[in-house]
Order: sequence, then structure tokens, then C-alpha cells
Amino acid sequence: MGDAPPLPPTRWALGGSRTSGYGDRFAELIAEGADVVGEARLADALVPRGAAILDAGSGMGRIGAHLLAQGHRVTAAEPDPVLVEQSRRLWPELEVLPLEILALTSDALTSAAAPTAYDLVVCVGNVLTFVAEGTEVAVLRRLGSLLAPGGRILVGFHLQEGPTTAREYAPEEFLADVEEAGLVVQHRFGGYDLRPVDDLYCVAILARA
Ligand SMILES: C[S@@+](CC[C@H](N)C(=O)[O-])C[C@H]1O[C@@H](n2cnc3c(N)ncnc32)[C@H](O)[C@@H]1O
Repeated sequence: MGDAPPLPPTRWALGGSRTSGYGDRFAELIAEGADVVGEARLADALVPRGAAILDAGSGMGRIGAHLLAQGHRVTAAEPDPVLVEQSRRLWPELEVLPLEILALTSDALTSAAAPTAYDLVVCVGNVLTFVAEGTEVAVLRRLGSLLAPGGRILVGFHLQEGPTTAREYAPEEFLADVEEAGLVVQHRFGGYDLRPVDDLYCVAILARA
């Protein structure tokens, strides 16, 4: 069998130096004692103790590290090598697979000794608006394929005033992509504090249809 074709570059990778402030900014916020784990608190509320959680597009590790500290079994996956290095330096106990979501096949996870089915997939902090152009449905489908029975996906992204190198993702298009990927929206909110739906930010909890 030949090698798989290379995956298209993510919008994050194409953003280059324009995306590079993220890791340092969060490191500064953490040093200042800021609350940077709102997403993780909601994620923690969605699962029982000791759940298997995949942090998909884990960045510098802030969410996965918090969930690990709550006693969950966390696998992080992050394709940006600079962020993988930062995450491993800050939280050596958090296992980070240097892989992008489309590369998270059962074979890849098995060879990394990681679970192949998760109670919760966390895909927050605009990951979905940074994936490679045209891969949104494939990414959502891949995440859905990694769910254990009853498992769910927590996603969150800006609807307005997002990062400059991210795409705009209108709620109608997102909802159509969710359906095409064989998923359903169980809940939608305007933020991780469960504020009502608004046109600024989209938090959604997805499950297999
Ligand atoms: C703004 S950062 C957020 C990181 C982290 N989730 C957080 O909230 O701190 C966006 C992340 O999306 C990741 N990303 C973009 N496309 C991806 C893909 N196809 N698979 C995995 N991660 C991806 C980038 O590498 C980057 O780490």
C-alpha cells in the first residue's frame, strides 16, 4: 500500500507568524492568574469522573491539562510543533500526539497507545475555524467516529471578531456541516457559561445522529 496523500495545510498553519502570538498570550494570562479554563469547566460537567477525553487541536495545552488535573484520562492532539513543544514543557504529564484531527485514525491512536473511543471530544478555541479549507465536514465526521457510545463533542468558535486568519463560519453553514457529518446538535449556547444563543460566539454540544 502506498503512503496516504499529504493533508491540506490548515488555516492555522497558513496564518504563520500571524497566529504565533496565541501560545505566549495564554502563557502570560496563566502567569497573571487569569481564568483560562472556562471551556474545561463545561467539559468537566459533561462527563463522569475518570472519563476518556480527546482534546482535539489542544494548542498550548491549557484545556487538556486542566481536565487531566480533574482526574480524566486525556489525550491531546496538536499539529503545530511549536505548540506541542510548549505544551510538553508546561505540562509534561499531558500526553500530546503531534497529529492533526484528520490523521487521528484508529491505527494512529492504537500505535500511540491512546484510546480509540472517547466519552468526550473537546474541540474548542476556534479549532473548527482554523482547519484546512473544505475539510470541516471531514473533521466533524472524524471526531464523530472517535466517540464511545453516548459520547459527545464540545465545540466552540467565534461568530464575529474571531482571529484574523480564521474563517467566518455562519451558524447555518456549521449546522448543515454537522448534519452532513452524521452528527446532531444536542445543545447550543452563546458561551461556555451557558448564556443564551447569540450572534457573537457559538458553543455547541454534538452527538452522533
Ligand atoms: C487558537 S488555537 C486553540 C488551541 C486550543 N484548543 C485552545 O483553546 O487553547 C487553534 C488551534 O487549532 C489547531 N488546528 C487547526 N486545524 C487543526 C486540525 N485540522 N487538527 C488539529 N488541530 C488543528 C491549531 O494547530 C491551533 O492549535
